[in-house]
Amino acid sequence: MEELKQQLAEILTPDRKDRSQLIPILQQIQGKLGYLSPEAMLAVAEFVEIPGSTVYGIATFYNQFRFTPLGKHPVKVCMGTACHLAGGKLVLEAMARELDIEVSGITPDHDFSLDRVACIGCCALAPVVVIDDSVYPRMTPPKVEEVLVSVKPASQEQSEKQ
Ligand code: FES
Repeated sequence: MEELKQQLAEILTPDRKDRSQLIPILQQIQGKLGYLSPEAMLAVAEFVEIPGSTVYGIATFYNQFRFTPLGKHPVKVCMGTACHLAGGKLVLEAMARELDIEVSGITPDHDFSLDRVACIGCCALAPVVVIDDSVYPRMTPPKVEEVLVSVKPASQEQSEKQ
């Protein structure tokens, strides 16, 4: 909790102690921590002096916020118009199946998290997936497994098991 307080100190500054700052504050916290933890939302509620349930209700209203940590390899499937029309939804479903997690979830080993994102500006390559900082163009469901293995080679999985 002490560590969280330190992490939030530069965001929760006295000049922002206002309900109108709630969304920008939550955006900044997510930018810093990668997600909104229950503890962080409670700290914000206390800071802005509104109930924790209100902060949670507002945060869950917007799909820009995530409530679980990011994996070591964050997987982002673009669902902008071009990618959606080119089969992005099928790619997203295939990723969720292959990783065996829900969208916005994280694998039990914390290696991968899965999110849908708005246009990332590579529409000519649609549908695209971003893993770490690499863009994977013209994705299809059959390519999903191959791409995930290339990110986390089997040898790495083996050495982690030992
Ligand atoms: S819609 Fe996916 S990159 Fe633009």
